[in-house]
Amino acid sequence: MAERFIVEGGHPLRGSVSVSGSKNAAVAAVAAALLVADDCYLENLPDIGDVAYMARVLESLGVEVKRPSPSSLHLNASRVTSTSPASELVVSLRASFMVMGPLLARFGQAACPPPGGDVIGQRPIDVHLAGFAAMGADIRRQGEKFLAEARGLRGARIFMDYPSVLGTQNVMLAATLAKGTTVIINAAAEPEIVGLAELLNKMGARVHGAGGHTVEIEGMEALHGARHAIIPDRIEAGTFAIAAAISGGDLRIAGAVPQHLQSLVAKLREAGARVDEDEGSLSVCCPSELRAVSIQAVPYPGLPTDLQAPMAALLTQATGVSYVHERVFDNRLLYVSELRKMGAEVVSTGTTAIISGPTPLVGTSVRALDIRAGAALLLAALVARGRTEISDIYHLNRGYQRIDEKLRSVGAVIHAE
Ligand code: EPU
Repeated sequence: MAERFIVEGGHPLRGSVSVSGSKNAAVAAVAAALLVADDCYLENLPDIGDVAYMARVLESLGVEVKRPSPSSLHLNASRVTSTSPASELVVSLRASFMVMGPLLARFGQAACPPPGGDVIGQRPIDVHLAGFAAMGADIRRQGEKFLAEARGLRGARIFMDYPSVLGTQNVMLAATLAKGTTVIINAAAEPEIVGLAELLNKMGARVHGAGGHTVEIEGMEALHGARHAIIPDRIEAGTFAIAAAISGGDLRIAGAVPQHLQSLVAKLREAGARVDEDEGSLSVCCPSELRAVSIQAVPYPGLPTDLQAPMAALLTQATGVSYVHERVFDNRLLYVSELRKMGAEVVSTGTTAIISGPTPLVGTSVRALDIRAGAALLLAALVARGRTEISDIYHLNRGYQRIDEKLRSVGAVIHAE
């Protein structure tokens, strides 16, 4: 397994690059297979670390997992042997906590330690647990784990304190097998929620309103297996769009859904890039000069927090002062110190970064601190003078399918070692 990327900057990206299936939609879809004893076939999965990891979490529960191709999984949860995944698996992947909802709904109990994940701020799970409790589950701490038990969940009206993406998905999963109707108020509205609702409805569930802030789920006695293709990854598409702009290139991003990226498209245009939207693709062409813009990372349809760091990398090349406000997580600006090593003029005041540009960036050794921080450094390296060495690229491989190959195919000079 390669440990670092070596990038030679100064090569504009040109041509067409295609988007893989969505990481965050994929991990939720894998969890949904726990709801039924039938076969579930998932297609258009990204071939990345987090999906393989989520499949291992299900395997640890007794689910039969086959991988007929790098982009598909065949899951069968007819012989679940445990309702508590191995703690060492859960602590490394936050999405693994999503097994709680389906296990609780189908087997009446589930136990998991608090999930781990990227170091991007406090990531509580109160919203998930409050949702289960509202449906009648008894929630207790048992040693290091949260234990949820219920003799049959009941539909409930649930107000979410925060429109948490995984929290909404976990509660939706549980509610599909509850008795009666569940209404989630202040639900997350991200496209990955819609993707999950589509899969659940194919499995016989009745989920309405996904994509809005009130989601209604009529509970069913049982669901059945389904075949489902994962939606395209809007964050990967957005990362390529920013790559085109920062490298001074001209890129067609095939498979992107422009509708999912309206906030980014608006900001790229405001910064001076030309963006053309088509059905099933985006084309981004860079102007001779980029203008400073201010951005706020907020829940959908606002600019995604997962594109906040990549946008900050771009804004180091824009003329003027840009403000980058992170409103979702409280510690997602750690990459700022790595960008500074490359010569960026950027300061962080907790959840805001202030960037003065344009500054010439210079290749040096930097470290990917999480998936999106790693993406930001990769983007910065595309314009840096000389060679940038990015270490800890396992973060990038967890979330982006062979990003080095994809970037190389459109002109980047990058290799893994
Ligand atoms: N929050 C609560 N209580 C909860 C849950 C969350 O207060 O019970 C707060 C968090 O503290 C945070 C905010 O809600 O401030 C947002 O967290 P959310 O729960 O929405 O995030 P998540 O569901 O854990 C997913 C994605 C993240 C993405 C966020 C926000 C998956 C597997 N992960 O995380 O993706 O940043 O939504 O859109 O779907 C990534 O792909 O790099 C990534 C981190």
